[in-house]
Amino acid sequence: MNAISPTPLIPESAPFTPAQRAWLNGFLAGLYGGAEATPAPAPEAEDFPWHDPALDLAERLALAEGKPKPRRLMAAMAQLDCGQCGYICQTYAEALTSGAETSASLCVPGGKPTAKALKSLLAEAAPLAVPAPPKPTGPLGEPVRFLAATRLTGPASAKDVRHVTLDLAGTGLAYQPGDSLGIAAENDPALVDAVMATLAADPTFRPVLLRERDIARPLDRTTDLLAGAAKDPREAAMLRKLSDGDDDAEPKDADLLDLLQAFPSARPPLVDLIASLPALKPRLYSIASSPLPTPGKVELCIGVVQAERRERRRDGIASCHLAFRATPDQPLRAHIHPSHFRLPENPETPIIMIGPGTGIAPFRAFLQHRAATGAQGRNWLFFGDQRSATDFLFRPEIEAWREDGLLTSLSLAWSRDGVQKVYVQDRMRESAADLWRWLQDGAHVYVCGDASRMAKDVDTALRVIAMQQGKMNADQARDWIVALARQHRYQRDIY
Ligand SMILES: Cc1cc2nc3c(=O)[nH]c(=O)nc-3n(C[C@H](O)[C@H](O)[C@H](O)COP(=O)(O)OP(=O)(O)OC[C@H]3O[C@@H](n4cnc5c(N)ncnc54)[C@H](O)[C@@H]3O)c2cc1C
Ligand SMILES: NC(=O)c1ccc[n+]([C@@H]2O[C@H](COP(=O)([O-])OP(=O)(O)OC[C@H]3O[C@@H](n4cnc5c(N)ncnc54)[C@H](OP(=O)(O)O)[C@@H]3O)[C@@H](O)[C@H]2O)c1
Repeated sequence: MNAISPTPLIPESAPFTPAQRAWLNGFLAGLYGGAEATPAPAPEAEDFPWHDPALDLAERLALAEGKPKPRRLMAAMAQLDCGQCGYICQTYAEALTSGAETSASLCVPGGKPTAKALKSLLAEAAPLAVPAPPKPTGPLGEPVRFLAATRLTGPASAKDVRHVTLDLAGTGLAYQPGDSLGIAAENDPALVDAVMATLAADPTFRPVLLRERDIARPLDRTTDLLAGAAKDPREAAMLRKLSDGDDDAEPKDADLLDLLQAFPSARPPLVDLIASLPALKPRLYSIASSPLPTPGKVELCIGVVQAERRERRRDGIASCHLAFRATPDQPLRAHIHPSHFRLPENPETPIIMIGPGTGIAPFRAFLQHRAATGAQGRNWLFFGDQRSATDFLFRPEIEAWREDGLLTSLSLAWSRDGVQKVYVQDRMRESAADLWRWLQDGAHVYVCGDASRMAKDVDTALRVIAMQQGKMNADQARDWIVALARQHRYQRDIY
């Protein structure tokens, strides 16, 4: 490990404005806060300013305005490189441009807004010639053994969050805190059987529908195929409306069973129907354990996704498989998804971790790792969820870390305990002066969890703190946060 060098500070007498001094101090702290200050991102990353999941779709598209079509298509993706489409954002865009990929609705986290934007971009002028895209990839992974999925939330909680433990013994899988695990889960067998019965399908198709195809989210090519096969013209017209993404088209958010039940005259050949469904992709989960205290095991923190629609419960495929159906005698296929989300190399560097809800996962890994290695750096955790009594995930461990001093600071935000919602960014604002001092000391800031709302608001709170405490204007605060990210002192694992 590198020995820590004292961080030089710009003297008060130096000919700089307070904002300039603050920025320079932050920059120096980044450099000296550890020899770990990493070089600027690869030039390619800089070429894609829209490649940030915290930006709105409109902002991303604006940043790509005037760029070649594959880049504008890329800007419409959710920017998570999560692999659920079988590509990363850049290669999916390139495959669509070249025509090697024909479905514009594969981006799961981007959902309908992304699919709509892609379709309208694709409808513009003729495709540009681009290099042949790489083949869609999907790591097959290795069989791991499911051990347990214990509930972390109390019985009265509105949420069901699970502490999932998997056994890696006998696999070649190795991970570091900050990595994610990709898990291939199968569809709910009861739903597969309902689909099979509606189609009066031959049982030989069952394994494919169970393990290989996503029956929860049919693509436009499925509705196109059904429209072409529909004997009833009204059904064909309604299916075409669905394919066109018409906002009034029903049934909304349909799964395959919904479509088969709503359009009984549409029965294309089964092989074609199955081929039109998207491949069932692994889901990613931030790893919530360090390999040091739990060698040979990996632990996750998974929010169970369930919703009621048209009097039928809609289960998230992987989260419900792990919570309700997985057993130790049925191996799961898993792979490690390496991350840029990393603890500072210098164990003395302070860290600020902001992770409400399941965003706590990698921070449990970080804290376990710092405890196991005896790292002396200060640790500050911002955590929150709906109610303290039922939703304080990993409460005994976190409280023990606070008591034994591993956690120098713990800021908790319960959104539904009181009359007014309190969020992690409110706690950050309350502690602005201390937070700023930590940043001046070279702290690294990490954010994990919800991309669409929380990560954006936390980003804004950081800028406001820089403006108030560092006496910066909005442009200077933006430059400061960009510099922080370039030094790898501001890292996000958001979804
Ligand atoms: C880098 C990364 C890290 C992550 N870490 C975590 C983590 O630590 N913990 C965690 O809980 N999650 C994490 N996630 C999210 C996780 O990968 C899954 O997306 C999540 O568990 C839902 O997957 P699922 O298979 O259970 O649900 P899915 O089957 O994928 O369904 C997800 C959502 O889509 C909706 N949906 C399903 N079908 C349709 C349809 N036909 N039309 C419209 N909507 C539909 C469902 O109602 C549900 O809201 C992470 C994601 C990424 C990218
Ligand atoms: N799209 C959605 O509506 C939706 C809903 C739930 C979960 N999710 C997804 O599920 C994942 C994580 O879910 P989770 O249940 O672990 O955590 P979560 O939904 O992020 O909730 C954790 C805590 O964050 C609060 N929160 C809500 N909006 C916030 C904001 N703008 N800034 C800061 N905090 C905010 C929540 O409060 P309140 O809930 O009391 O407002 C709750 O106390 C994410 O991927 C998220 O996108 C999506």
